[in-house]
Amino acid sequence: MDLPVLTLILIFLLTYLLPAYSALPSLRRGSSLFVEHSSDFLVSPTGSFSAGFFPVGENAFTFAIWHGGPVCSGDSCVPVWMANRDVPVNGKRSRLSLRDDGDLVLVDAGFLPPVWSSETSSSVAAKLQLKDTGNLVLTDESGNTTLWQSFDFPTDTILPTQIIKMETRVVASRSRSNYSRGFYGLHFNDQNVFSLVFSGPIFSRAYWPSPWERMFVFNRSGAVLDPLGYFSSSDDFHFSSSDYGRVIPRRLTLDPDGNLRLYSLNSSNKAWLVTWQASSTPCSIYGLCGSNSLCGYDRLLGRRCSCIPGHEKVDPVDWSLGCRPIVPLSNMCSKDVGFMKITHVDFYGYDMDQVERTNMTLVDCRTMCINTCSCKGFMYVFEYEKGTFRCYFKVELRNGHINPSFTAQFFIKVNKSATRAIEQEKQTQGSCTERQTVQLNRAPYTLNKSNTFVSLLLWFAVGVAGIEMFVVFVVWFFFFRNQQDISTPSHRYILAATRFQRFTYGELKKATKNFDQEIGRGAGGIVYLAVLPDNRVAAVKLLNEATTGGEADFLAEVNTIGRINHMNLIELWGYCAEGKHRLLVYEYMEHGSLAKNLSSPELDWRRRYDIAVGTAKGLAYLHEECLEWVLHCDVKPQNILLDSEYTPKVADFGLSKLMDRADSTDQEFSRIRGTRGYMAPEWVSNMSITSKVDVYSYGVVMLELVTGMNAAEGVRSIAGGEEKHMRLIPWVRQKMKETASDPSRSVVDEIVDPRLRGDYDVKKMEILIGVALRCVMEDKNSRPTMGEIVEMLLREEEASV
Ligand SMILES: *[C@@H]1O[C@H](CO)[C@@H](O)[C@H](O)[C@H]1NC(C)=O
Ligand SMILES: *[C@@H]1O[C@H](CO)[C@@H](O)[C@H](O)[C@H]1NC(C)=O
Ligand SMILES: *[C@@H]1O[C@H](CO)[C@@H](O)[C@H](O)[C@H]1NC(C)=O
Ligand SMILES: *[C@@H]1O[C@H](CO)[C@@H](O)[C@H](O)[C@H]1NC(C)=O
Ligand SMILES: *[C@@H]1O[C@H](CO)[C@@H](O)[C@H](O)[C@H]1NC(C)=O
Ligand SMILES: *[C@@H]1O[C@H](CO)[C@@H](O)[C@H](O)[C@H]1NC(C)=O
Repeated sequence: MDLPVLTLILIFLLTYLLPAYSALPSLRRGSSLFVEHSSDFLVSPTGSFSAGFFPVGENAFTFAIWHGGPVCSGDSCVPVWMANRDVPVNGKRSRLSLRDDGDLVLVDAGFLPPVWSSETSSSVAAKLQLKDTGNLVLTDESGNTTLWQSFDFPTDTILPTQIIKMETRVVASRSRSNYSRGFYGLHFNDQNVFSLVFSGPIFSRAYWPSPWERMFVFNRSGAVLDPLGYFSSSDDFHFSSSDYGRVIPRRLTLDPDGNLRLYSLNSSNKAWLVTWQASSTPCSIYGLCGSNSLCGYDRLLGRRCSCIPGHEKVDPVDWSLGCRPIVPLSNMCSKDVGFMKITHVDFYGYDMDQVERTNMTLVDCRTMCINTCSCKGFMYVFEYEKGTFRCYFKVELRNGHINPSFTAQFFIKVNKSATRAIEQEKQTQGSCTERQTVQLNRAPYTLNKSNTFVSLLLWFAVGVAGIEMFVVFVVWFFFFRNQQDISTPSHRYILAATRFQRFTYGELKKATKNFDQEIGRGAGGIVYLAVLPDNRVAAVKLLNEATTGGEADFLAEVNTIGRINHMNLIELWGYCAEGKHRLLVYEYMEHGSLAKNLSSPELDWRRRYDIAVGTAKGLAYLHEECLEWVLHCDVKPQNILLDSEYTPKVADFGLSKLMDRADSTDQEFSRIRGTRGYMAPEWVSNMSITSKVDVYSYGVVMLELVTGMNAAEGVRSIAGGEEKHMRLIPWVRQKMKETASDPSRSVVDEIVDPRLRGDYDVKKMEILIGVALRCVMEDKNSRPTMGEIVEMLLREEEASV
């Protein structure tokens, strides 16, 4: 659009629109704001907030406060307070009045009694004003006595300087399009801990912070967010937004999905950006997906709900109502029922009973569930430590969560006539392939607003010259185009940063004593030992300047890595992006890498087996969670770290993409990732790269765990007085072949690490070798997935006891 046209638009807006919004500085005693009057708004002195009738549906309005001027449009248009969220009023003859008796009332379509009132009655009440903080205040004439203020009655949002007191109750909206009170609340609980609570129609449960955190004695004197972005609460909870330090419009909102998020307004594109959130694992928020449904993650949309097989959504838009069986099971006490098995899924809580025995069989559990009317299903699990089988009987199938490393099996009671249909459905879908997306509804109000805005423009256009008609069209066109952009869901959730911290270069320089003690070298950088200001010991990785892209790319990637959370993946605590410096701060692992420990006598066969299982779980989490979006691309013993208990944690994941961008100019080179000796054949033959490249590398690491040899160095053996050099995989395969034809030899004896001195479980080693050889198949389709590997290792473990 060229300058003259823009100028015209500006002139048009200044001439016609602004007078239309001759918004009021205050509402005086005895006067009213009417829903039909497009000029009836209260605007704060500097225009940072407006209050007025806000459309929430077809002919439905609430009296609300929002950021910015009276024309509320686009994504930035989010009400921060509402007088009557549960009872919207009509679009005709509704009004907000400051009555002569000092009561502020909201009247629906002229009918009494009012739908809402401030319940003030004071002869001194003189005016209602909107402050620049977003607080709507009823005062006396001098303004010295506050009789009522909206800050004392928050809805789902807390604004900077608004104090959350002992009695404050913040309640999320029902959904993004329905502003009525929903199920999630934020308040100081009975233990004075600032907490998030789900209170559904039947169940109630606190879900943040975790019940075992912050158990100390606190007072509940209050909590407040300061204008710079620092939040602190009297229970000693505090955080800073990722863009801390600037005074910009912010809001702390308890969203309808139960997550508490701090948003900052980007003034250039008018989008709200998330700069902190309470939970980075959305599926841990209680009650999100309702009963009989499963929660999974999605990179763009966050949480993702789906129904378990044979079930359908109760409500097309609202996942919290869950799913119901397609073929109903009307009689729960019927003995003639079927069971549906689902794996890699955990339904947390709602156990009515559990039975544990060494001789417990699946049939026993099934019979018990059939004989109990309220049993909706059961979990059957082998307790590895105790050598017993255990059944958990469930009264509700809630908190379903997809988890590839979860190996217990679930059996769900269904109508027998439905079982065949379910089996078919499962075969066509697979439990993990269903890619249902979260319904992010475009709120109807957005539509309405654009309509009122458009019609307003058209109304003004009547009687103005032809050129202005043209301008109206342009404005409308411009606006319409914007609307289109805004409605794409990816714009809605841009996570700027989550729970981890941003460090300054100076802090990290000091923490590492000027990069004094090197503890390792990994992809793209050197790792140093550090002691953080809060005395945590950390590993700080200084990335090579040449290998990282711009700051925005770096932050986006760090944000992705920071959101990944699994006990077998190294945890990212923070980062630093300052000038050319790019640093990552990780948890420190006492025992260093597996490569360093492979020859240590501490690594007995049990630990080796556990390392194989743990590593597989970590990689399965990266690959699967139903998404296959993080490939490691450099699985090797140097990247598997061991903590004080020798629990393995995979390191250096998520960086491959970061590196990719930086050297994508070098086409030939950028394609190849990884380390010689561990790389799958796909890398060199021009085949597509999938998660199976990690499976291959993992297989090589397993062979190293068994044989104690180094894949990069290969195997030296003396055969017939002549020294031969062979690569590890062909050597193991050859041994397999030789021993298969000779019953007097055992492959396990011949290849297992001599450092184990014969102390190992033959069966376990056979499993490791068998699984490893499947992982290193040349044909990637013959290799199992990481999830299958976890299952194979654990299933064999159960069977062997
Ligand atoms: C209101 O407060 C200010 C300062 O606190 C004071 O100067 C003024 O006299 C007060 N006005 C009334 C009417 O009390
Ligand atoms: C919003 O949710 C409430 C309570 O769940 C319901 O009663 C109401 O009908 C819903 N409103 C709309 C417009 O869907
Ligand atoms: C309550 O806690 C706050 C912040 O921790 C502290 O400043 C205040 O003195 C405490 N109040 C009481 C009565 O203990
Ligand atoms: C704000 O939006 C503009 C335009 O989309 C973008 O270039 C800028 O990076 C954003 N600022 C922040 C802090 O995200
Ligand atoms: C199973 O579904 C059929 C209809 O398909 C119904 O007639 C029958 O009562 C159901 N069985 C039970 C036990 O609810
Ligand atoms: C299982 O073992 C218990 C004793 O541990 C015994 O009482 C019970 O009869 C056994 N049940 C079956 C089905 O074998």
